[in-house]
Amino acid sequence: MCGIVGCILKDKESAPVLLECVKKLEYRGYDSVGIATSDKEIRIKKDQGKIDDFRKKIDLNELPGKMGIAHVRWATHGLPTKENAHPHTDCNNRIAVVHNGIIENFKDLRSELEDSGHKFSSDTDTEIIPHLIESYMAEGKSLEEAIRFATRKIKGSYALAIMSLDEPGIIIGVRKESPLIVGIGEDEYFLASDVPAVLNHTDKAIYLDNREMVILDGNKVTIKDLDGEIISKKIHTIDWTEDMAKKQGYNHFMLKEIHEQPDAVKNTLREESEIRELVKKLPNFNKVCFVACGTSYHASLVGKYLFESILEMPTDVILASEFEYSSGGLDENTLVILISQSGETADTLKALKIANKKSETLAIVNVIGSSATREAKHVIYTRAGPEIGVAATKTYVSQLTSIYLLALLLGGNEDHLKTLKKMPDYMEQSLKKEDQIKEIAKRYKNTWDFFFIGRGFSFPTAMEGALKLKEITYIHGEGYAAGELKHGPLALIDDDVPVVAVIPPGHSHDKTLSNMEEVKSRKARIIALGADNDEDIISEAHEFIGFAPDIDEMLSPIPYVIPLQLLAYYISVERNIDPDKPKNLAKCVTVE
Ligand code: F6R
Repeated sequence: MCGIVGCILKDKESAPVLLECVKKLEYRGYDSVGIATSDKEIRIKKDQGKIDDFRKKIDLNELPGKMGIAHVRWATHGLPTKENAHPHTDCNNRIAVVHNGIIENFKDLRSELEDSGHKFSSDTDTEIIPHLIESYMAEGKSLEEAIRFATRKIKGSYALAIMSLDEPGIIIGVRKESPLIVGIGEDEYFLASDVPAVLNHTDKAIYLDNREMVILDGNKVTIKDLDGEIISKKIHTIDWTEDMAKKQGYNHFMLKEIHEQPDAVKNTLREESEIRELVKKLPNFNKVCFVACGTSYHASLVGKYLFESILEMPTDVILASEFEYSSGGLDENTLVILISQSGETADTLKALKIANKKSETLAIVNVIGSSATREAKHVIYTRAGPEIGVAATKTYVSQLTSIYLLALLLGGNEDHLKTLKKMPDYMEQSLKKEDQIKEIAKRYKNTWDFFFIGRGFSFPTAMEGALKLKEITYIHGEGYAAGELKHGPLALIDDDVPVVAVIPPGHSHDKTLSNMEEVKSRKARIIALGADNDEDIISEAHEFIGFAPDIDEMLSPIPYVIPLQLLAYYISVERNIDPDKPKNLAKCVTVE
């Protein structure tokens, strides 16, 4: 979904700093990269490909200047090519722009601009922005005014960083529906799509809201609305450290983040008192509706089983991208719970806007200060720390922990709360299965199709296991309710299609075991997850991953997802795929 950076430094060259900052945003896009610096002229280097390859090809000495902007791209309009990489410029190379978002009316604006003589050199929607600004500046407007006028013309979403040779020493940022933060160092100023980009330079940040503009001039930061009125904004101290955003000896961020999961859950558990306060504040509600995408949707599915069993409350789960078509009859007695790691997912933010008009809204979010946290009526922070790998792992278990805390505190269920607090120990047991899973991955790396099955609380776990496999191994995986196989997909099962069965002890155990036998008798190879003393599974499965004998199925989604994450991770590595940067995907999906 693209990441943007800008900086004005006091006495350092900007190009190496821009490269280092934008590297931290690589999870937002990695099909192209570009930098523009400004001193007596604007100089640009950009290319298709990843930042490390780009770094080898360019000479940073050819990018002089203490200020500049940079970009990593996840293509939406136009193929990932050098021409389409950002920054984009006007006709005279005097204005440079980096953009995250989508300009919906770019075709109309482009033909208007072409009719008046502007020459375009890319297929992107972004390129209309420097040309629009150029046309307003040609009428005598300042850069700031020209940007303001341009924002009135463009429809869509944007976080922009812009500089012009005609107003040297200034970088202007502006946002609508795409994130943008301002980092404040010692006489150094930054713009970035996300906090990790600036952690090496400052722990002070301002979170811009929609339709706000920031002017960095090397001495100060000025924030205005799009009518030009100055706004005063809070400066936040960021409690994420630079070290948290490094690999710390692991081969990939994903593996590091899988191993960080017990700590992530400990951090989420520390939110208990905040959630207790929130529970007191929430108005009465008699219906719950979870809304989310992807992995966060799977956390929501666990939420549904939990709210229905603990609170006996009708609970819907709706994919955020479907919410505008079917929002489950919201009213003032509905609590809408939006789950999002990034707090910036466009589909989820759109749903939040709709829900806010009718119902009480609560966002469960990892990224502090993100749009969802500012727009929802109530917020729970998952506190998992920065997650860099594109595939969500530690933030998923932290989301689950937040949902458990909320449901158990609402239901006054102290017994389960005690077991929840032991969760990091159960998770350590799952992590000990790593070597066994590495070997299983070697045996299954050339498979083309997998099924993942589970019932009740294990159904979302099966879906999450399949999603992890798909996104980082490019192998087809399908998560299915175990009892549903016989209604169709059983026709696909044979000795080429392994089935991963999630069978914790509990209510659903025996039926899932029968479903496992059904597929085994159709020659499927079985990889089963269960309590390590479960003789029934041990005698039937081809591969058995056993741990945590006493965890009940209600709390099983947290420790049981870990072997599935590890399985996907090691198959990805066996297939020579970079699990941190799967093709076609980006960490934060800021387009609908
Ligand atoms: C999968 C994954 C995605 C996200 C989805 C929602 O590993 O990371 O499916 O879960 O894009 O993102 P958030 O939670 O940021 O709203």
